[in-house]
Order: sequence, then structure tokens, then C-alpha cells
Amino acid sequence: MTLTSQTSVENRKFYKNSYENTQLLKKELDDASVRVFELERKIRMLESRVPKKYAEVTFLNYLKKKRILITGGAGFVGSHLVDTLMLQGHDVIVVDNFFTGRKRNVEQWIGHENFELIHHDIVNPLFIEVDQIYHLASPASPPHYMQNPVKTIKTNTLGTINMLGLARRVNATILIASTSEVYGNPDKHPQSESYWGHVNPIGPRACYDEGKRVAETLTYAYAKQEHMQVRVARIFNTYGPRMHMNDGRVVSNFILQALQGHGITVYGAGNQTRSFQYVSDLVDGLISLMESNYTLPVNIGNPVEHTINEFATIIKDIVGGNSEIKHVAEVEDDPQRRKPDITRAKLYLKWEPKIPLDIGLQKTVDYFTKELKLFKLVYSSNPLGNS
Ligand SMILES: NC(=O)c1ccc[n+]([C@@H]2O[C@H](COP(=O)([O-])OP(=O)(O)OC[C@H]3O[C@@H](n4cnc5c(N)ncnc54)[C@H](O)[C@@H]3O)[C@@H](O)[C@H]2O)c1
Repeated sequence: MTLTSQTSVENRKFYKNSYENTQLLKKELDDASVRVFELERKIRMLESRVPKKYAEVTFLNYLKKKRILITGGAGFVGSHLVDTLMLQGHDVIVVDNFFTGRKRNVEQWIGHENFELIHHDIVNPLFIEVDQIYHLASPASPPHYMQNPVKTIKTNTLGTINMLGLARRVNATILIASTSEVYGNPDKHPQSESYWGHVNPIGPRACYDEGKRVAETLTYAYAKQEHMQVRVARIFNTYGPRMHMNDGRVVSNFILQALQGHGITVYGAGNQTRSFQYVSDLVDGLISLMESNYTLPVNIGNPVEHTINEFATIIKDIVGGNSEIKHVAEVEDDPQRRKPDITRAKLYLKWEPKIPLDIGLQKTVDYFTKELKLFKLVYSSNPLGNS
């Protein structure tokens, strides 16, 4: 055998061995992932048998303790509101149909004597006794509310009528979670509450935008006719832990893409602006509004404005990695500018957002990192299911 052919035989052996080694390592890694997943599942099962420990709640006497209903309380914003009101010592009742909400978001309170979770669709009437209603039930992100536009309209119209009717019967104060989307694609900037909006009534976002506009109209019709105590919060874009990973909104999209090393997708040129508030600021704003005696709509949002391109860069910097920013075609009716005028909230509620963007985003990235890890483990457990 010549020297050249001997070397090529050795090379082939070497490559064959290293290929086999890599395959072996891959298999061991997969097996280890499956074992870790199984162990985590067993730990969770064992933990569920240990009597649950709850966060310490404030003791309130019967004069101060309220019975508070939160519709949509198993969702992103609702679950944070639940946490704050529970810690304050109130009785909290969550009503949710789990369309976008999850039991996991409120599992920390399940079994607590001050907490109740009711599986119910608010399109149907509800009869309970409460002092306050935070009416948050409604899908909030475009992919969710566009999935069943008719149901979105029903939830915001019939559902709101049911909640207003309940508030009237039991003489409760009701707060409606409205949205900055009532301003549509605004031709005024920043948006103050006196602006009537610029909404396309038959566009893809109309089921939500017009649904919320009718919800506001219903609220003031009830207030006038039935002499009720109402509050209307026009909520601007909010982010934080427990937001939906795949809700198609800017923050979740960008964080998820950056964490997975994928391209960060910017729709259009990226010069559209958004202002994002951290969820704890929103919760403080909602409670301040409920406890105030102010009845007209109030913008609750963070006025610090960034372009979508800036957001992409900030998130990329926090996450690290090599994701590139990619521009794709703009979507229909995408608002170009969004920034709340919060003069009213400052004046009447003495409220303004406190959490800086980098701190809020870091907490959100940490949450997404944990969720992604869990999701991946579930994903890698597929071979178990197929075996
Ligand atoms: N998150 C934001 O940036 C934002 C911005 C503006 C307005 N809002 C408003 O705040 C509220 C909460 O939004 P979110 O981000 O927590 O959304 P989310 O989707 O996480 O929560 C909504 C909750 O409502 C429940 N729900 C939906 N339809 C229901 C029905 N028919 N009956 C009972 N429960 C139902 C869902 O299961 C979910 O738990 C919504 O009304 C939304 O319009 C949110």
C-alpha cells in the first residue's frame, strides 16, 4: 500500500470515528435531557403533595376587606393585579374562560382562603356578590383577537353588558380595561383622552378596537342611566413576565427571536414608535384609578417613546448573541405612532410609571429564558411519547 492510500484510509477511519463519537454524544445528551425532564416532573408531582406555602397577605378587618372580582384574572395583566390585591389582604375572585389565560398564572393562590377561581365565560351572565369589579376579560394581542373576531366582539359587548349589569345589581364600582387602540392609527400625537380616535371600522383590528369603543360607550350609558360608579382605563402597550410568548407583539417577538438566535423581525421600516410600560406600573395605575373618584377615561401608559428599530437594538443588547435585525413588509393598519399623554393620570391619580425600560426588559428576558428552557425540555421529551 502506498503512503497516500494509507493516509486516506486512516483519515476515513478518523472521520468515521469522530462522526460516531458525535452521534454517541448527541444520543447521551438527548437521553440526559429526557431523564432531567422526567425527574423535574416527579419533583413537581411530589411538591404538589406537600402542603402549599403562600406569600404572607396583610390582615384586613371586615370594614377594610373588599370582595373583588377580576374578569380575565388568569391572563397576563390580571394575574399581576391578583397578586397585588391578594397581598393587600382582599378577597379576590377570578373569572376566566382560559382562552388566553392560564391556571399557572394564579396557581400561587389556588387553595388560599381569600382566593377563588371560577371557570366561566363572561358572555354568559354571572351572579355573585362583590364590592369592586376589574373587568379585564378580552383577548388583547392581534393574533388572539383576530383568531375569532366575532367572539372578541361578543366578549367586549355582551360580556361588558353582563359585568355592568352585575355591578348595577350589587352596587359595585366597575373598572373597564379599555385600550389605546380606541385611538386607532392616530392623527394626533401624543394621544390625550379628549382625542376621539382614527379607527378603521372594518379593518382586521376592528373587532377589538370597535369592541373596546362600544365597551366604553356602554359603560357611560350605564353610568348615566343607572347612576353607577364607573372607571375607564385606556391601557397602552404593557410588557412583563407572564405575557404570552407567542402573542405576536413587539416585546415578546423580539425577546424570543433574540434568545433563540433568530433574526429580529421588524415590520416596515421600523420608524413606527411605541411606548411600553412595565406591568407593575399598570397594576398601580389600575388600583389608583379604582380607588379614586375620577369617572372619565384615563390613559395608563408610559410616555417614553422609542422607535421599533430602537427596541430591536435595546433587546438585542440585553439578550446578547448574534441575532440580526431583519425588515419585512409592513402589516395592514399598523399604527405609526403611539404615545400616551398622561397629564390626567398625573393630576387626578397622582400616578406615573416608575420602572425604567432596561430593568423591566431584564425581568421579562429572565422570565422568557426560564419559559423557553421548560418549553425545550417538553419538546425534547417527544421521543418518549413516540417510543
Ligand atoms: N397587555 C396590554 O398591552 C394591553 C394593552 C391595552 C389593553 N389591554 C387590556 O387589558 C386586558 C388584559 O389584557 P392581557 O394583556 O392581560 O391579555 P390576556 O389575553 O393575557 O388576558 C385576558 C384574559 O381574559 C380571558 N378571557 C378572554 N375572553 C374571555 C371571556 N369571554 N370570558 C372570560 N374570560 C375571558 C383570557 O382567558 C385571559 O385570561 C384586556 O382587556 C386588554 O384588552 C391590555
